[in-house]
Amino acid sequence: MNAPRQILPVTLTKVSLRRGKKMVLKEIDCRFDAVPARTLIIGPNGAGKSLLLRVCHGIVAPDLGQVRWAGETDPRALARSQGMVFQRPVLLRRSTRGNIDLALKIHGLDAAQRRRRVAEALERTGLSRLAGTPARALSFGEQQRLALARAMALRPRVLFLDEPTANLDPAAAHLVEEIVRDMSEAGVKIIMTSHDLNQARRLAQEVIFLHRGRIKERAPADRFFAGPKNDLARAFLNGELLWWRRRSVYDGVGGKSADEMGIDRP
Ligand SMILES: Nc1ncnc2c1ncn2[C@@H]1O[C@H](COP(=O)(O)OP(=O)(O)OP(=O)(O)O)[C@@H](O)[C@H]1O
Ligand SMILES: [Mg+2]
Repeated sequence: MNAPRQILPVTLTKVSLRRGKKMVLKEIDCRFDAVPARTLIIGPNGAGKSLLLRVCHGIVAPDLGQVRWAGETDPRALARSQGMVFQRPVLLRRSTRGNIDLALKIHGLDAAQRRRRVAEALERTGLSRLAGTPARALSFGEQQRLALARAMALRPRVLFLDEPTANLDPAAAHLVEEIVRDMSEAGVKIIMTSHDLNQARRLAQEVIFLHRGRIKERAPADRFFAGPKNDLARAFLNGELLWWRRRSVYDGVGGKSADEMGIDRP
């Protein structure tokens, strides 16, 4: 068997993105390697986490800067090697099974391979009994699991997961965490966001803290959770980062001024 082609690292150089009048990603420089296998991106609502994943995945082009994948220059091959599960699942007007099957067909798998992989993905995500149900009739949590099943079935080398457990009950969230762990142990690079800090603690091997479109801290997970160096990250972990209250943000947090904390003014 051919060894899978390595597509990492993915390198972002001075990536900036504008939405409306606002720069929502600001000069992001970062590089994702195969190790550590699980990177968690955390930060407040509107920090730019989803957009950062989209830019890395290649479905949103940065206004400035570059995203480069190593080892693979053919965009079609690249598209096959990396998958994304969106914060709001995007499903087709087909059955649960049909959504996975079509994705595999597009990727050129024959009928026998597709049957096997569809069954495996449905089983793994606990959706087998819903195989024939129209995907759009599934509950939100089931849709989210289907989106993951579809992404898994394609066997990507890199998987972007945007809040993959946001709508899941505790058992389903546990199942998804198990899948994420298994995939990463099988060599898939996971780059995911989560608002659930307990989940981030359980899954992360490294953490990126994003705030207002900038990476404020990146650290191994144990060091980050033991005490982030960045004041905003610390405030965020303590549940004190009330960024939508403009005054409190520009006044700073924990006795420090906004300037000392590196908070951008609009
Ligand atoms: N079309 C647009 N026009 C103006 N602002 C936009 C547009 N699209 C996105 N934004 C802004 O970009 C910022 C980053 O959005 P993004 O969805 O990446 O945030 P996020 O960190 O994923 O937030 P959440 O935790 O809520 O998922 C937000 O402030 C959002 O309002
Ligand atoms: Mg988001």
